[in-house]
Amino acid sequence: MESVTIRKLKKKKERGEKITMISTYDYITAKLCQEVGIDSVLVGDSLGMVFQGLDTTIHVTLDEMIYHAKAVRRGAPDLFLIVDMPFMSYQVSVEEALKNCGRVMKETGAQAVKLEGGEEIAETVMRLVSSGIPVVGHLGFTPQSIHKFGGPKVVGKEEEEAEKLKKDFRILQEAGAFMIVLESVPWRLAKDLTESSEVITIGIGAGKYCDGQVLVFHDLVGLYEDRKPKFVRRYAEGAKIFKEALMKFKIDVERGDFPSEEESYGT
Ligand code: KIV
Repeated sequence: MESVTIRKLKKKKERGEKITMISTYDYITAKLCQEVGIDSVLVGDSLGMVFQGLDTTIHVTLDEMIYHAKAVRRGAPDLFLIVDMPFMSYQVSVEEALKNCGRVMKETGAQAVKLEGGEEIAETVMRLVSSGIPVVGHLGFTPQSIHKFGGPKVVGKEEEEAEKLKKDFRILQEAGAFMIVLESVPWRLAKDLTESSEVITIGIGAGKYCDGQVLVFHDLVGLYEDRKPKFVRRYAEGAKIFKEALMKFKIDVERGDFPSEEESYGT
């Protein structure tokens, strides 16, 4: 398989071809993504909730992101790898952001880093890009600011919010971000931003007119039975399938039906 590069992603936008992205955290799911020809894998800090069982993304550390990103890179050596910068790894100062993003690029094989925020991170984005680090922005509902929002919400329904989002989008574009994730944004606003700019837009809860779509692997395959945001489409009932398999294993062991002779080593 030919590797997916930033050039290839930009070409896709130019040609009007949709971009596929999966947020995931481990070797085997990344390998599945590569095997079916997904364009990009994002090591999202959603791993705090989805993988670690925490309540928000805020607790995730830089070392944890690097650990997971290395595993994902091994599973998907040819996909465009983006790594989320965790809370407070890029907000304190431009210098610290450069150091931490540099570490991610050097140690994981990532091709880009993703940062949440708009105007307030513009200088950081500019310095990263001028240092050779491609930057993905993240606007709309930004989970690292969950306590500021007071919980998940759609951003951009109100006129003032929409204007702020448009301004942040323009600022990130001017600072050099080549891609922006739009999370929980009304579809008309996401469509306008997508059609009026060269920046690649990736939607999650932002309608179908974005240049591409991202979903969390575990949501897409239905591993969480009790969690289904409006924007998730479940392509499998993973939890049901796995529970059936586990139940069969339990019954077989308890009945003495597993392992069989064929599944055992002879003398
Ligand atoms: O953390 C994450 O997985 C993300 C995507 C959902 C966009 O930021």
